[in-house]
Parts: sequence; structure tokens; C-alpha cells
Amino acid sequence: MSKRLRSRQWFDNPENPDMTALYLERYLNYGLTLEELRSGKPIIGIAQTGSDLAPCNRHHITLAQRVREGIREAGGIALEFPVHPIQETGKRPTAGLDRNLAYMGLVELLYGYPLDGVVLTIGCDKTTPACLMAAATVDIPAIALSVGPMLNGWHEGKRVGSGSIIWQARQMMAAGELDYEGFIELVATSAPSVGYCNTMGTATTMNSLTEALGMSLPGSAAIPAPYRERPQMAYVTGKRIVEMVHEDLKPSGILTRDAFLNAIAVNSAIGGSTNAVVHLMALARHSGVELELSDWQKHGHDIPLLVNLQPAGTYLGEDFHQAGGVPAVVRQLMDQGLIREQALTVNGQMIGENCKDARIILPDVIRTFDAPLMEKAGFLVLTGNLFDSAVMKTSVISPEFRQRYLSDPQAPNVFEGVVTVFDGPEDYHHRIDDPAENITENSILVMRGSGPIGHPGAAEVVNMRPPAYLIKQGVTALPCMGDGRQSGTSGSASILHASPEAAAMGNIALLENGDRLRVDLNTARVDWLVSEDDIAKRRKMLEEAGGYAYPASQTPWQEIQRSMTGQLDTGATLEPAVKYHRIIDTLGNP
Ligand code: FES
Ligand code: MG
Repeated sequence: MSKRLRSRQWFDNPENPDMTALYLERYLNYGLTLEELRSGKPIIGIAQTGSDLAPCNRHHITLAQRVREGIREAGGIALEFPVHPIQETGKRPTAGLDRNLAYMGLVELLYGYPLDGVVLTIGCDKTTPACLMAAATVDIPAIALSVGPMLNGWHEGKRVGSGSIIWQARQMMAAGELDYEGFIELVATSAPSVGYCNTMGTATTMNSLTEALGMSLPGSAAIPAPYRERPQMAYVTGKRIVEMVHEDLKPSGILTRDAFLNAIAVNSAIGGSTNAVVHLMALARHSGVELELSDWQKHGHDIPLLVNLQPAGTYLGEDFHQAGGVPAVVRQLMDQGLIREQALTVNGQMIGENCKDARIILPDVIRTFDAPLMEKAGFLVLTGNLFDSAVMKTSVISPEFRQRYLSDPQAPNVFEGVVTVFDGPEDYHHRIDDPAENITENSILVMRGSGPIGHPGAAEVVNMRPPAYLIKQGVTALPCMGDGRQSGTSGSASILHASPEAAAMGNIALLENGDRLRVDLNTARVDWLVSEDDIAKRRKMLEEAGGYAYPASQTPWQEIQRSMTGQLDTGATLEPAVKYHRIIDTLGNP
């Protein structure tokens, strides 16, 4: 059944003995034998994203041993290699800058080396999309292995979730309830073991969606990193990739439009991160699948929130696994006809078959469709005269916020406010607590200069806290809006990803302090209450002044990425890269 493996072109090509000898000899020098390399066994890459620089994924260094054993057991040969590390919490100015860099690097490795298949070691936020995007571009048989979340964090008997605790602690510090040392100690309790963020942040989201897309084995996403099931899953994943090579099961057979619509539905039900929009739009483009931003609202908005994890809910990653994980969620959605059950997955079965017997084990952690945490919990895709599109995660609108801004009986879900505009995160930090800014509870905070050009990679800074003096009066959240992103661990109902961004001369660049905005969540519109004439005048003035100013690049990659990036609405991909699809099939082998 097998066709000739592509690794044969390196290791067994009698038409070109010079190159074959050259390719073979150096892979012998650490102990592989000629017999192994010339046996015709599949050569399987282990794309290693873990390292000392990337602690969220570092446990993959240990797991890789079990992946190797699985590969060997199934008759393959493993070659492990490093992927450019991306640590969400460690990389300055933002890890967002590195997703496309890791993507490009991995494309080169998968295309240019003698690999027949690859295990993608995913985990921390951007490592997952970077790996999937590269595998989709090259279209080499690929299976993802999640490193798994950390154990639950605990402090004085309460669950402490990664990331989410920072947003709470910064309010406590602004209110004078916590000092610097106390802040750091409290946050440290949220990271009790190896693994990635234990909240429903971008990592848990993207690992769950990878399973929903069919790119990892069923039931694998939620297993905590230190559990014994995790290395067991690593072993099974290693075995399975060898079979996938023989079956020629490639990402193009799995990453279909149906798979993406399944992922959008699951994202609503789990209360997934807004960053999922950016990463799935990018993955769809690299897969050659038609996906519109409007699909998120059309196929996701009306789906209720079922998973009770922080920041939208109470629990953490261990609880999600114990409750039944992704298959239990998929099964709930299947019962409502909201899953395209025929979508194929890496185990060679359809997602419907994989999940048909899944059940909820802890009913407060994963709710049934009839008793959700919140109705209509998906994203709104907003439009208006300030931007072409922006995204809002409605599942994190707090009761307080709803009461203050969205419950006017004359106009429910509509509010108006006066804007205070910040140009990038430093400007915000300098000005937010200055009483002269006159920020009140009728203010809308706007962050610009934080999109993929203004702040290479797009900064996670739109979820701004109110000034300390307002927090002390009990105003814990103001409406926020901006052209950047926010952390998936944030519980802020901000309006994000305004595209085009200020640095691309979107209208948000023309906004001034004191302008009024009207936000209508019924019609998903943000209207900037200034005249067309005024807008035209301001645009002319800014253009004459040379356009919206943003800081210079600090590294070569920042400059290169800025020159090629698309906007957040289409996934902030490297635009010259998106025309490359299935490159092994279309271009042959190098
Ligand atoms: Fe790596 Fe959250 S910082 S997963
Ligand atoms: Mg993040």
C-alpha cells in the first residue's frame, strides 16, 4: 500500500550515488546504522519546541523519549530537532512576533530534510499555530502532541489560575491590598508544575482546538503534563504517526472547512481565547481553506459556554481533564447537530466516531447543553466607521459590567462613552493614573499602535485596567478597545483586533481624546460620533504629517515581519507565504 517514501530520495537514490552517500554518511556519525537508514523505514521528525528558554513546553524533552519508543515500536526511525522557541511569558517585546518566525523555520526543516512524517510538540500559546501552519504548508503527515497543562495552582484553599491571577493581582496592588513581593508570591502559586497555563488561556484553547480540528489523538489535549497518561499518550502518538505515513494521511485530508467550523463551535463552548481567531484564520489561510472572520459569529456566537474554567468560570486544567476533556464537549455539541461529524482525524476515524461515547464526568466543570454557564457565548464580530472589523469575547462580560454598561432599559446592550486614547503600552502606563486625564466611569479606553505593524507581532495590551482612583471607588473595569490583542487568560470583555490598525492608517489613527463612541452589541457596531467632514480633515492632516508614528524596529526580524504582515482579521500571516500550499505535492522534493 505504501508509495515510495520521500526520505528514499535522500537515503536510497541509485541515480545519484554522490549525493546519496553524502546524505547518508553524516547521519551515521552518532550511531545510526546504514541498515537502519536504508531499510525503507519511515523517518519521523520530532519537532521539539521545548527548551530551557521555553519552560511551558520543556516537558516535551522528557516526553520525546516515549514518542521515540512509539515510533520505533511501529517500525519507524525518529529524528528529533529543535523548533525556534516561543515562550509566551518570556519573549520581549512580545511572543506574537515569533509565531511566524517559528513557522517559517519549521517549513524549511520539514521541506528540506529527509522526513516522511512529523510529531509536532505543541503547548505554549504560539507554538501550536506555528507548528500546525508549517505542517499544513508543507503537507507532510503530521500529528500534534500536547505537552499538557500544569497542575492546578492553589493559594489558601482557592484555585489560582495562570495569567488570570495577574489581572486580579494588579487590581489588588492598585487598590493597595498587595505589595510588590506579595504580588510576585501570589502569582508564583499559579505555576505548580511543568506544563502550560492551567487556565482556559490561549494555550488550553489552542491545544483543545487542535484536537477539535482532528490534528491530535482524541482525549489527548486536556491531560495535565505531570500525569502518567501524558507519556502514555506520547508513546501512542509516536506509534500512530508511522501508520499515518503508510496511510499517506496528511494535514490536507484533515484540515478541511468542516474541521475549522468544528473548532469554532468548540471554541465557544470552552470559552476559548480571542487569540484563537488570529491563529485559526492564519492556519486556514496556510491550509488553503476558505474561512471568513464572519464565520466566527455565524457558526460560533450562539453556542453556549459549557466549560467552567477560569477566566470565564471557576475551575482549572486538571478539572477539565477529570471532567471528560474535549471529547465530552464535542459530544454535547454533536447531540445538538453542531459538529460536522464526518471530519477526519489523525487516528483515521471521523470525529463523530471518536466522540460518540464520550460523557461528562464532573457536571459542574463541563455543563450540559441544557444547563450552560452562559447562553450565546461565542465571539461578536463588530464593524463600524472606526474599523472594518474587531472581535469581542462575550463570555467574559461580567455581571457588574453588564449592569453598568449594557442594562439601560431604553437601549439594552448599547452604551456611549468618551474616549481616552493611548499610543502603545508605555503611553498607557505613563498616563493611566494621572488625574489630569479625567478618566471617569463614562470613559472608553482605546489602545492603538498595538497592531501587527505598530507593535510587531501585535501586543496583548488592550485589556487595560481603570485608573487606581476609580478602582478604589469600585469601578473595576472600563470598556476597552484597540488594534492589538489581549491575553487569553484575561477576563476582560474588550473590543480587540481593530483592523486596519492605526499604523496601517485605519480610522482608529484619527481618534482624539474626548471623541464619543457608541457601542451597540445588538447590531455589532461601533460608531464614532464625528462627521464625515471631520474624519476627512483629520486624515488629510495626519497624512501630511507623515502618517501615524510608531517606534522603530529593534531587530531585523521585526522589520522584516512588519514589511510583510497582514492585519489581525486575516491572521497576521506573512503575506508572501500564504500562496504556498501543499508544497511537497506541488513542488516535489528539494
Ligand atoms: Fe506558556 Fe501560558 S505562558 S502557556
Ligand atoms: Mg498570551
